[in-house]
Amino acid sequence: MSDPKLDGLVIPKHVGIIMDGNGRWAKKRALPRSVGHRFGAQNFRKITRYISNVGVEVLTLYAFSTENWKRPKEEVGALMKLFHQYLKDSLKDFRDDDIKVVFIGDKSAFDPQLVKLIQETEEVAKDRKGMQLNIAMNYGSRAEIVRAVKSICKDVAENNKDIDSITEADISDRLYTGGLPDPDLIIRTGGEFRLSNFLLYQSAYSEFYSTDVLWPDFNDLEFNKAVIEYNRRNRRFGGV
Ligand code: IPE
Ligand code: IPE
Ligand code: MG
Repeated sequence: MSDPKLDGLVIPKHVGIIMDGNGRWAKKRALPRSVGHRFGAQNFRKITRYISNVGVEVLTLYAFSTENWKRPKEEVGALMKLFHQYLKDSLKDFRDDDIKVVFIGDKSAFDPQLVKLIQETEEVAKDRKGMQLNIAMNYGSRAEIVRAVKSICKDVAENNKDIDSITEADISDRLYTGGLPDPDLIIRTGGEFRLSNFLLYQSAYSEFYSTDVLWPDFNDLEFNKAVIEYNRRNRRFGGV
């Protein structure tokens, strides 16, 4: 079911997307920022299906960062309402596409109803065999690394381990993405060239692609452009 435009191209195994630009999309239309988020959420469902159809194995989408709580109360409230509504409407979403939904980030900060919806969504999807969709919510990579370090310290203290035995794998296994391949390609919409605390440890050798297209307008054609550009990159991983 893969798109013929991608024939003969290497499809990245793990893609991360920083879904940025909802606010500017709304502003351009003289609409409130929350409307941009609503269109962004609709787009998320469409593009996720497309990406799963082209054969990507893991898709990690950045939906809400640990720093996004800084936004005005009304905007955070609108986003939380959207998460609630989205999850309620779509508990069975992605079933036909066999997509396994996993939430990464600190869930404890959300209200108990939302936490319950998150758990139910993960539960109904847990045995699916298709693409794994990680939705990063209240996710921040620095907090993720601190969490991994605490877990290692605990292990060292409780099991009397030698500190010199700690390896890179001990860290990566304890990240939310533990067991998954590192992202091959990270796409950012909205034109900025920064990671904004997304997958810092995992992206050591990721290819970065930035487009001016704002998230609600990012579609299958724009995704194809990113894959075509990815295929032009020469990934050396420090070698020659
Ligand atoms: C991304 O869009 C969505 C979230 C961060 C929740 P923004 O809301 O950051 O949109 P811009 O960057 O202000 O246009
Ligand atoms: C990054 O976008 C976070 C998400 C897309 C969820 P931001 O809009 O928060 O990033 P900055 O503030 O431009 O770095
Ligand atoms: Mg932004």
